[in-house]
Formats: sequence, C-alpha cells, structure tokens
Amino acid sequence: MDRPLRLVLLVSFLSIAATPISLGNANVGLQVPCKENERQALLMFKQGLVNSSNRLSSWIGEGDCCFWPGVVCSNLTGHVRALHLGNYYLGGKLNPSLLNLSHLTYLDLSSNDFEGMQIPNFFGSLTSLRHLDLSQSDFQGIIPHQLGNLSNLRFLDVHGNYFEVKSLQWISGLPQLQHLDMSGVDLREASDLFQVTNTFPSLLEYLNMSDCGLYQIPFGIANASVLKVLNLEGNSINSPIPKWLYSLSHLESLFLSYNHLHGQISSSIANLTDIVNLDLFHNQLEGELPTSMGSLCKLMVFDLSRNRVNGRVSEIFESLSRCNSSQLESLSLSNNNLSGLLPDELGNFEKLRFLDLSSNSISGSIPMSLGNLSCLEELRIQNNSFKGVVSEVHFTNLTKLVKLYAKNNLLKLETSRDWHPPFQLRVLFLDSWYLGPELPLWFQRQTQLQYLSMVNTSISGTIPTWFWNFSSHLRFVDLSHNQLYGEVPNIVGAPLDIIDLSSNQFNGSLPLVSSTVDVLDLSNSTFSGSIFHFFCDSIDGPKQLRILYLENNFLDGPIPDCWQNWKKLIVLNLENNNLTGNIPSSIGYLLFLESLHLRNNHLFGELPMSLQNCQNLLVADLGENKFVGSIPMWIGESLSNLIVLILRSNKLQSDIPNEICSLVNLQILDLAHNNLSGTIPKCVNNFSAMATLSNSGGPISFFSYMYGSPEQYMEEAILVTKGRTDRYNKFLSLVANLDLSHNMISGEIPEELTSLISLQSLNISKNLLTGKIPSMIGDMVMLESLDLSMNKLSGEISPSMSRLTYLGTLNLSYNNLTGQIPQCTQLGGFDQYSYIGNELCGFPLNVSCKENRTMQPVVVQNHMGGHLLEDSWFCLSLGLGFLFGFWGVLGSLLLNMPWSFRFSQFQNSIVRRLYGVIVEYCC
Ligand SMILES: *[C@@H]1O[C@H](CO)[C@@H](O)[C@H](O)[C@H]1NC(C)=O
Ligand SMILES: *[C@@H]1O[C@H](CO)[C@@H](O)[C@H](O)[C@H]1NC(C)=O
Ligand SMILES: *[C@@H]1O[C@H](CO)[C@@H](O)[C@H](O)[C@H]1NC(C)=O
Ligand SMILES: *[C@@H]1O[C@H](CO)[C@@H](O)[C@H](O)[C@H]1NC(C)=O
Ligand SMILES: *[C@@H]1O[C@H](CO)[C@@H](O)[C@H](O)[C@H]1NC(C)=O
Ligand SMILES: *[C@@H]1O[C@H](CO)[C@@H](O)[C@H](O)[C@H]1NC(C)=O
Ligand SMILES: *[C@@H]1O[C@H](CO)[C@@H](O)[C@H](O)[C@H]1NC(C)=O
Repeated sequence: MDRPLRLVLLVSFLSIAATPISLGNANVGLQVPCKENERQALLMFKQGLVNSSNRLSSWIGEGDCCFWPGVVCSNLTGHVRALHLGNYYLGGKLNPSLLNLSHLTYLDLSSNDFEGMQIPNFFGSLTSLRHLDLSQSDFQGIIPHQLGNLSNLRFLDVHGNYFEVKSLQWISGLPQLQHLDMSGVDLREASDLFQVTNTFPSLLEYLNMSDCGLYQIPFGIANASVLKVLNLEGNSINSPIPKWLYSLSHLESLFLSYNHLHGQISSSIANLTDIVNLDLFHNQLEGELPTSMGSLCKLMVFDLSRNRVNGRVSEIFESLSRCNSSQLESLSLSNNNLSGLLPDELGNFEKLRFLDLSSNSISGSIPMSLGNLSCLEELRIQNNSFKGVVSEVHFTNLTKLVKLYAKNNLLKLETSRDWHPPFQLRVLFLDSWYLGPELPLWFQRQTQLQYLSMVNTSISGTIPTWFWNFSSHLRFVDLSHNQLYGEVPNIVGAPLDIIDLSSNQFNGSLPLVSSTVDVLDLSNSTFSGSIFHFFCDSIDGPKQLRILYLENNFLDGPIPDCWQNWKKLIVLNLENNNLTGNIPSSIGYLLFLESLHLRNNHLFGELPMSLQNCQNLLVADLGENKFVGSIPMWIGESLSNLIVLILRSNKLQSDIPNEICSLVNLQILDLAHNNLSGTIPKCVNNFSAMATLSNSGGPISFFSYMYGSPEQYMEEAILVTKGRTDRYNKFLSLVANLDLSHNMISGEIPEELTSLISLQSLNISKNLLTGKIPSMIGDMVMLESLDLSMNKLSGEISPSMSRLTYLGTLNLSYNNLTGQIPQCTQLGGFDQYSYIGNELCGFPLNVSCKENRTMQPVVVQNHMGGHLLEDSWFCLSLGLGFLFGFWGVLGSLLLNMPWSFRFSQFQNSIVRRLYGVIVEYCC
C-alpha cells in the first residue's frame, strides 16, 4: 500500500545536483548589461514560440535582457548564462538563434508543450551547455545523436517524453555527465543500449531509467562506477540481479521495484556499503536473504515485499542487527515465504518507523521487545501464524504508533479493563484475534481512530451508546462475525462511510443511520419488526447510501414507499426476511440500482410499472415470493442490462413474452415454479451472452473506495443446478443457466434453443412440451446439467447428445421417448433413473432392444498389467462424463485394482488414454 520514505533521499539528491542559480531578474544592478547580439537572439527565439505572450511579454524593446524573466546573465561579462523557461506554457518552434548565446550553460525548457516536435539537431551545437532539461514537454521523434557532442553536459533530463529511441550510443559521448533522467521514455527499440560497447559516462552519479520498458539491465551501467542513485523500477527486467551491480559500491539508492527479477540476492550485496535506500519491491526474487546484509550499516529503507524469498525471519533480524546502531527506519518484507519466529533482536531497531511483515508464515509469539520500538508509526503483521498473548507490555513505548494491521493471526489481546494505551491509533485491524468476551473498552480512548476492524474476534455483549462517536474521525467499522446482541443504537455522529455489523445476533428494529454512510451491512442477524422507520424516518436528510445489505433477518411488514430518500442505492438486498406487500412504486426512484435481491419473502402483487426506471439493473432476484400477473413486456426494453433475472417460485402466469429476448446480456434466467403457459419463444437465440460466454469475465462486483484501496462487494446469485442450491459469487460471470421448469409451457422445444452453446445448465422439466429433442442439442457442449423430464417428448434420443462430454446430470425420465439409448458414450454412464418412464431400451435400463447387437466379452490388458475389465457389463457401465460423474466410476474401479496405486498418479492424460482403450475394446 503506501510506502513512505522511499523518495525522500532521491529528492534531496536532486536538489543538490541541480546547481542553484539565482532565478530570473532576481540579480540586481551593478553588472554589465546584456550583449546586443544576445538580446536579438532572444527576441528571435521568442518569435518562434507560441503563446509566449503571457510570461515572455516583457521580452521586448531596447531594455537590458538580463532583467527579462527567465534570463540569467553573468554579472561580470553580461553574457546570458541561463534560461529558466520551465513551465512557461511555451510551444511553437525553437529558433536556432539560441546558438548565438555562446555562454549558455543552463537551459530549462521542461513542462512546456512542444506538441510532438523533435528535439532540434542544433541543440547538439550548444556546446557550452552543462545543464539541459527537456522533460515533460511533449517532445517526440528521435533524440538527435548530436546531443552526444555536448561534451560539457553534466545534467540531462528528458523524462516523460514520447521518443522513438533507436540508439543511445550518443550517451557515451558525454564524458562529464553526472545526472541522466530518461524515465518514462520507451527504450525497447534502443538495441545498442545492451551492447557491451555502449558504456555510460564514468562520472555519472544519478541515473533514472524507470518505466522505460527495459527487459534487462544495460551492462554499460557497470562503467558508471561512482553511481549514487540508480532507478530502474517499473521495467520488465527479467533476469537475476547481475553480479556487477554489486560492485557499484557508491550506490546510496537502488530502485529495482516492479520488475521480474528472479534468482537469489547474492552475498556480494555486502559490497554496497553506502546503500541507504534499497527497493526490491514486487519482483520474483527467491532463496534466502544473505546474512551479509548485516554489513549494510547505513541502510535506512529496505523494501523486499512481494517477492518469493524464504527462510527464517529470525535470521534476517539477527543479521540486520549486526550493525551497532541500526539506521533502519523502514523495513518491508511482506508477501514472501518467510517462516520461523520473530526474535528478540526486533527490539534493537530503535529507529524503525515502518515495519511490514504481513502475508508470510511467521509463527510463534510477538516478542516483548516490540515495546522498545519507540519510533514505530506503522506495524503490519497481518496474515501470518502468530500465536499467543499480546499484552500491554508489547506496546509500552509505542507512543507514536498510528496504524496497526494485525488481522488473521491467532493472537489474544489481554489488557486490563482500564488500560490507557500510549498511542492514538488511526487504523486498527485485529480480525480473528481473540478479544472477547466483551468489547475492549480501551479503544474508547482512541479518539483519532478512523478505521476499525474486529471481524470474528469472539466479542459478545451489546454495542454501547458511546460507540458511534468516541472518535469523531471514524470512517470504517467492521464488527461482523461476532456474538454481539441487543439493540443497535442509532448510527449518528461520526462521518462513517462503511459499517459492517453482519453475522451477529442483534435484535430489535434496525437502527437509523446518518446520511453520510456509503455501505451498510446488517445482514445475517436477528433484527426484527417493521422496516418503516429505517427507510422513512430521516435524521439528517437524503441518504448517500449506495450498498445496503439487510438479508437473513426477521424483518417483517410491508416494504415502505420511501425510496425517494435512497436515490443513490446501487445494491439492495432484503432477501430471506418476512416482508409482505407489493414492491412500492417509489422503487422507480432508484435510478442507479444495479442489484436487487428480494428473494424469499412474502411479497405479492404485480411487478410495478415504475421498475422500468431502474435501467441500470444487472441482477434482479425476486424469487420465492407470491408475485402474480405476467412477465411484463417492458422488461426487455427497459431492463436491457440484466445479467441475472430470477423470478423463480412465484405465481406468474400467461405467456413468456417475446420481448424478454431483448435481454441479450442475460446469463441466468430462472422462471421455474410459476404458472407460465404458451411456448418457449423461438427468439431465445437472441440471448447472446448465453451463446458467447467467454472465460475472461471477472466477478460482478461493486466498489467502495476506502482508504485508497477499493473494498470489493461481490455480487452473489443463488442458482439451482443439478438439484442443488448454490451461491455463486466469484464465478458468477462464468455461469450461464436457463431454468423454465415446473410451468405449463407447451409446444415443441425450438431448435433455436440449441444455439445457446455456453449454457451450463438447462432445465425445462415438468412442463407440457411435445415433439422431439432438438437434433442439434449436441451443440450445447458446455452443458453440465440437462433436465427434460416429465414432459411429453417423443421420438428417439438425438445421437448428437453423445457430444455433451461435460454432462454430469441428465434426466430424460417420464416422457414418451423411444428407441435405443445411445451406447458406448457417456450417456451410458447415467443410471436408469435418467431414462425411466419412457419407451427406451438398452443399458442402463433392464429392457433389451429387439435388434440389440451382441456384446463380446473382453479383457483389457492395461498398461499396468492387470485385468481391468472382465466382462461386457463393465464396458457398458463405463460411460465417462469426464469432469463429473467420472470419479465415481473411477473410484470403484480403483478399489478393484489388484495393485496399490497413488491416486495422484492418475493424471488426466492417463485417464483419457484409459478411456480410449475402453471405448476401443467395448464398442
Ligand atoms: C497560454 O498561456 C496561458 C497561461 O499563461 C494558459 O492558461 C493558456 O492555456 C495558454 N494557451 C494556449 C493556447 O496554450
Ligand atoms: C555577482 O556579483 C556579486 C557582487 O556584486 C557577487 O557577490 C556574486 O557572486 C556575483 N554572482 C555571480 C553569479 O557571479
Ligand atoms: C565484493 O568485495 C570483495 C572484497 O572487496 C571483492 O573481492 C568482490 O569481488 C566484490 N564483489 C563484487 C561483486 O564486486
Ligand atoms: C521505554 O522507554 C524508557 C525510556 O525511554 C526505557 O527506560 C524503558 O526501558 C522502555 N521500555 C521498554 C519496555 O522498552
Ligand atoms: C451467519 O451468522 C452465523 C452466526 O451468527 C454464522 O455462523 C454464519 O456463518 C453466518 N453466515 C454468513 C453467510 O455469513
Ligand atoms: C412471517 O410472517 C407470517 C405472517 O405474514 C407469520 O405467520 C410468520 O410467523 C412470520 N415468520 C417469522 C419467522 O417471523
Ligand atoms: C407417444 O408417442 C407415440 C408416437 O411416437 C404416440 O402415438 C402416443 O400417443 C404418444 N403417447 C403419449 C402419452 O403422448
């Protein structure tokens, strides 16, 4: 997240490198006036420029040009020495008249807008230049190799332009260069950069090639043996850290973050004896950190987070503490594979301000010496395996602690009831600690607290009335998954954004919330009674709330007609309550609503016309209520963004309107258990999302920005497939289901249905469908579950069905199907209940077909040398639906095997080969 301290040194170095020269007309009198030819040169230079009118407006007439803004002269000779034209809103042309300024040593044209102009070649003739700054001025094209003639140049900054760099050979022509900044310049085409012959100037002290698209570290840098700052972050460097880099023994700052560096860090790192700031964040470095790190006694900032370093954290602390007085102020080792215990040496790092050990596998207890770190401002130890008790002693001298991220450890906090912590925290994350049995009282005194998270911390009791305003800064509170009970006092006072009290045992009616709240989760508790006051009584004006979860409570009574107060809502979840009445028409005020969950209440009446206004709806789950009337025709046009539409288990009737086919984004349509009649619309082939689902989708989610990083609220949908009810969230965008079962739909199954080739589940059972199974049903190759049972389908089972290789559930029972069940395919792998109640014959039914072909007894000599298959019955039972139903068959097979055999050896390829053998022998 935030990574303090890392740029401090860089900035201070920069200000030294840019030799201070008094600015503009700050130099007064007592000096030789400017040269006439130089004055003329400046006037010509100005003429070429566009929009110079404002800041260069006094560059006119006969006056002494040494007093013009941006111009600095030598007070001994009157020659123009410097032009400070950075951020002057300049554009237009750069006139070669500049060449007449024969004593120009300093030229700053940075932060202007030259609209894609190329750097003029004549710049290479400004040979007295020592300082050239062309950064962020929209120069483009090539960098002229003539720059390599500037033999006096000490400072060159061209960062933040869009050059097409083919060659950087000219850099080696700048023997005096001390400072070079090319960050953000695309160097991917600069092939000679990586040739051994291209050496960097030996006096170079500062080199910034961050974000240049480099895929390796240019070897020529090795020549810059006095380099103090090397910044190569944000490239694509995909190699180990080269050995020679460690011989740049003057390095004070080395930035290599955001690359793909791999391999181990060499023990030669000890040669970087001057290093102060070492940033290796976000690479793929592995192995253990060399103990020789311990000789880097000037190290102040070390960031190794997000790598693959392993080993014992104790060894790292032990070696780093070899310096008599460690200067370390910031240490980040998060997101590696570190294990072991945190040693007592931790307490030696008295200057530490920032310590991040999060997301490793560090175990054991927290050493008491933590209490020594009197400079510590931010401690991150979350997502480790720390155990044991944390007491007041651990915090004795942590007077400066402001942020404590410690969640997901098995720690227990034991403090006296009247503990006065030495710190004032702004952030406190203690999820999954044991803090119980009562809400700790000490944080009542944390009056600066902004972010408080105590999820699953075994606290019980009630929420005291002071809770919502003990800190006037409180913005985020998460007390979910505890055993809190009683009534929740009204949430007013603090400027709260996010409140999560879900999964507790609160009762009584819902608390009123102040209008500032953005996200409120009171779900999965035992709130009861009417929701009238919550929705209709306002303490302080219209709500800003965007995400509201109230599901899984005992709320009852009607949904009040007060939605005009909640116009910002994006997510509204009231499912699994006991609400009654109609959906009030004011729902039409919720213009931003994307997710509406009303499932499993006692709502009735028709869907209100005003729902048409909610045109942003993506997910609508109104299932398991008592809605009546027909599916509204306007649904197709008005709610055309719908991805999920669930109207399951209501009392809807009449035809499915053709208009529904306009819902081209639908992935999930569940109209099961209603009284719908008519036919399946032929236009179902318009459901293009069901036909073209790609694997690329992420979860459907809603974000709330908190503390710079987005909190993600994942959309969920409850789906009934394969006879199971499942909750989908992460993978919702990968799911496509159609369920029309338990209605009174008649007519034939339209062949068009088979164009929905991304469907994973199709259920049209328990209707009055007639005719044949569509011949192209085998096109729906993604089907995992297919239920056509209890209709009046006739004819033979379409042979194309044998192509449905993912099928794990099949039900064709109780129709009027005839003929032979296709053999030797996965269709034979289902049991008889998939087929009964028809006129079918062949395995797995006990009815043999009249012209049944005879099966040869076979023995398969398999690769492992055992008699795997003894008779034809076995062949027939091996219908392999590869991903499902499959292991059941294979599992029983394994039990019968005469050899012991590790399950894990059963690679898919072997399985497929086996399947090939079986099909070959059996059929
Ligand atoms: C000209 O310069 C002024 C600042 O002095 C700036 O606000 C304006 O946008 C510039 N106009 C153009 C066309 O660049
Ligand atoms: C200019 O002259 C003053 C004395 O008049 C001197 O102190 C100063 O250093 C000179 N500045 C430069 C840049 O030469
Ligand atoms: C590190 O320093 C040692 C001793 O000065 C030297 O022998 C070794 O070659 C150096 N390693 C590198 C990579 O420069
Ligand atoms: C806290 O600091 C004081 C003085 O700064 C020191 O005497 C004491 O030992 C420290 N306590 C701990 C637990 O580090
Ligand atoms: C609901 O709360 C109970 C206990 O209060 C908990 O066990 C359960 O996991 C919660 N359910 C969800 C979906 O969070
Ligand atoms: C839900 O409401 C019905 C009446 O509408 C009532 O009979 C039932 O007891 C309620 N159930 C719960 C769990 O509150
Ligand atoms: C079953 O199908 C046959 C024709 O294949 C038809 O004659 C018969 O009436 C059908 N039976 C039912 C109950 O639909």
